Amino acid sequence: MCGIVGIASENDCVKGIIAGLYSLEYRGYDSSGIATLNDNLFASKKSIGKISRLENAIIKDKISGNLGIGHTRWATHGKPTLNNCHPFIKNNCALVHNGIIENFEELVKTFALNETCIKSETDSEIIAEICDKLLNEFNNPIDVIKKISQNIQGTFSFAFLIKGSDSIYATRRGSPLVLGLSENLNSISSDVLGLPDETREIIFLEENDIATINPSSISIYNIKGNSINRKKHEFVAKKDFKTKGKFMHFMEKEIFHQPICLEDIILNFADKKTNSVFLPKNTIDFNNISNIILVACGTAYHACMIAKYWLEQMTDKHVSIDIASEYRYKKNNIDKNSIAIVVSQSGETMDTLECLKKFRQNDLFTISIVNVLNSSIARMSDYVLPTLAGPEIGVAATKSFTAQLAVLALLGLHIQQQKNNIEKNVFNSLFSIHESIKKILKDSKRFEEIAHSLRDAKSIFYIGRGIMYPIALEGALKLKEITYKHCEGYAAGELKHGPLALIEDQIPVIALAPSDHNFSKILSNIQEVRARGGKSIIITDKAGSIKAKKYCDQIIVLPDTNYLTSAIIYSLPIQLIAYHLAVLLGTDVDQPRNLAKSVTVE
Ligand code: G6P
Repeated sequence: MCGIVGIASENDCVKGIIAGLYSLEYRGYDSSGIATLNDNLFASKKSIGKISRLENAIIKDKISGNLGIGHTRWATHGKPTLNNCHPFIKNNCALVHNGIIENFEELVKTFALNETCIKSETDSEIIAEICDKLLNEFNNPIDVIKKISQNIQGTFSFAFLIKGSDSIYATRRGSPLVLGLSENLNSISSDVLGLPDETREIIFLEENDIATINPSSISIYNIKGNSINRKKHEFVAKKDFKTKGKFMHFMEKEIFHQPICLEDIILNFADKKTNSVFLPKNTIDFNNISNIILVACGTAYHACMIAKYWLEQMTDKHVSIDIASEYRYKKNNIDKNSIAIVVSQSGETMDTLECLKKFRQNDLFTISIVNVLNSSIARMSDYVLPTLAGPEIGVAATKSFTAQLAVLALLGLHIQQQKNNIEKNVFNSLFSIHESIKKILKDSKRFEEIAHSLRDAKSIFYIGRGIMYPIALEGALKLKEITYKHCEGYAAGELKHGPLALIEDQIPVIALAPSDHNFSKILSNIQEVRARGGKSIIITDKAGSIKAKKYCDQIIVLPDTNYLTSAIIYSLPIQLIAYHLAVLLGTDVDQPRNLAKSVTVE
């Protein structure tokens, strides 16, 4: 999957672009290139293979400039050759492109291009040719880009340099672009990881937006050319991940980072317009696979549990899950028609790594879902899906968990897509998850109140059914990890097989109960608790709250969800309750006793 980085700076931009391209390496690429505009002259370097080769070429034969665009190319139209490498430069225009122009051959005729000028096999060069031609007809580059955009069928994100202008121009449709704003520099990239560390705020461009980016300002226009405003988000730079900023703890900061992470993940891997999921550099044909084996530890294992519910509901695959420390030491009857997926935030967890080795010894194709891209697990697997959550400092996993869920949800949709049966409504709902989470975070005071009510509890139960069962387990894990209070997560249907014996008024039960097909069942379980003098807190949605009101001591109402969004959205309350209770109890929130973030020992 191609990647774009563009920087407009008061200083030289080349180093920043190279750094951005390195950060986009995970997307997969086979060649790279960069172009700058300096004293109204273009300078360019391209290279096949690793970015380090491009960097070395620039060290040997320096190029510089305050305006520049860079690209990692993952070949679609034409082999990975220097000729097919971006940027494409045509007289007054240089461009980089991500996406596929479906009607590129038609466009040659529409714009009466001179075919002898087209030197590459790419669809992208044609757009550079059209851009240069139109620059002679229109005074304003925005009008040129409008015209190009109106004529293209397919998906694209573009960044252009145009002679005579001190701005980078960019536009997108079906392929993400995010603007980075800072004091002396503005930038653009395919995802937040490609933006420079100086970035303070970011703006996600929406479909058909056209942006101009110069060192001191940015402007955004719609397809009609009218100036528009887009919402700014705070940017957490890679170096800023190491500071708490306005937050009291890293865990709090990481909880609040989730809307941005999730929006970034969804926009990078899914295209709303074409209802499709793009997994970077994926060549796996899931139609030929009948079994999926998932292994992980800790919170990542809970993500796998949810994935089992999802993948079995969404596909015809048989899905098995195991705790890595168990899987590695037992006899496993592996069907050769299986694919193995390991999930790990750090990518270093010893037990998970050992399972990966075992899968490889059994000749299984291995996928890793990791947050740390150069980790041992990522390097050892056949295919890597990055979770794009950025560094997580708090020992208790929060944003890495919801990011794992988002990626696993996208994987499920991708498998459906390969069978041409993607569930469109469910797919569309992914694009508003970040808004639902923002609403929950805005009202985070409510969770402080819940935490107060749990302060003196002897023990706590989380209960859930279906997908909410693993969330109950994760809720209990979060509480244990950082509050040191005993808490258990239970499948609500299992209450009567033992734990009901413990219920009394000092042991509150928190029910995770979206109004889905399990709702009436869990309502009965809550009544069983209350009949034995237990206190209940219900976390549900609006419809659920109407029915549940009379059966609970406290109620939290969340936005509506479906089976795919519920796991992500119901993760927020369990994180916030644990966080506020830990603050109240004065424990070491970010570095709880006896625990480590990355467990590289058995
Ligand atoms: C440790 C961490 C947990 C994490 C688990 C698995 O226990 O404290 O937060 O879930 O390891 O780690 P991984 O990096 O493989 O996801």
